[in-house]
Amino acid sequence: MGIKIVSTGSFLPDRVLTNFDLEKMVETSDEWITARTGIRERRISEGETTSDLATEAAVRALEGRDPQEVDLIVVATATPDAFFPSTACKVQAKIENKRAIAFDISAACTGFIYALYVADSIMRTKEIDKALVIGAERFSKIMNWKDRTTCILFGDGAGAVLLKKEDNEGILGFDLGADGSYGDLLYVPSVGSNEEYPFYVRMKGNEVFKVAVRTMVESAKRVLDKSGILAEEVKLLIPHQANVRIINAVAERLGISEEKIFINLDRYGNTSAASIPIALDEAIKEGRLKKGDLVLLVAFGGGFTWGSCILRI
Ligand code: COA
Repeated sequence: MGIKIVSTGSFLPDRVLTNFDLEKMVETSDEWITARTGIRERRISEGETTSDLATEAAVRALEGRDPQEVDLIVVATATPDAFFPSTACKVQAKIENKRAIAFDISAACTGFIYALYVADSIMRTKEIDKALVIGAERFSKIMNWKDRTTCILFGDGAGAVLLKKEDNEGILGFDLGADGSYGDLLYVPSVGSNEEYPFYVRMKGNEVFKVAVRTMVESAKRVLDKSGILAEEVKLLIPHQANVRIINAVAERLGISEEKIFINLDRYGNTSAASIPIALDEAIKEGRLKKGDLVLLVAFGGGFTWGSCILRI
């Protein structure tokens, strides 16, 4: 018995915010943003809530299947519609499923890998056949649009996968971890803290950059080692889409060549927990992945958290 991703879906809001638009909002330039990050534009919600984005991605991943078949819904998000009910419960209501276990996971940009790990673990030990695992974010609501060091980086969107128990193994291994001592380098305060509203993304970008590269490389190496897979056997590396310089540094240290890296951050920026499932969906739809191919997912995020997953399509 194994757990397999049987279908994927993603949804991006229509509104495009380009680097040129940002030039009119803060002191920056398309040239600076492109050179330092690789990002050219991002999508911004025009009123769609995080659960709306998540639901659209989930419906696409269901590909016409009966939503009642879903036993478990896990949503990774740092920008939920509400403190409660969870975004997963809102998605459940919107797809009119009345029985699944539903809850959210908070692990910032690593959230999707954490959610995949939790769903995979529950499915292996319990009577659960199908699970929706979703990454969905509306970071535009927690941006300080006057802070040029952060507002150029993030965007809104959602991606989803449908997991199913199958005879053949799909998900082959995980490596996850966290080091909370780095918490102050990248965070968004909330009501439990003594910080004053409004609650925006705070980040020491330079320091985050260095730890991100090191941590993603170490995690990816561990998951390959544990699974007995060589980097050269990997058909596609799907890294968290934060910064093209981080991605290239990680790939180089892993010995993975450029044509095996999936990048879409030029169009969407950093969509946090949504970035990997959106990228996975696009990679499959663009024909960059075929049945049997090995894929390496690697993420890093606030916490700090990190996570890698190796899977066979
Ligand atoms: N436009 C123009 N100039 C900018 C700018 C912007 N949007 N943002 C910062 N600058 C300036 C800085 O003020 C600084 O000026 P100074 O040299 O006069 O002090 C200069 O550009 C260099 O800033 P620095 O922060 O050293 O640049 P950098 O090369 O580290 O790039 C980031 C900044 C944020 C792009 C980069 O650090 C990064 O991507 N870090 C990781 C962030 C991340 O991915 N977070 C999410 C993780 S999941």
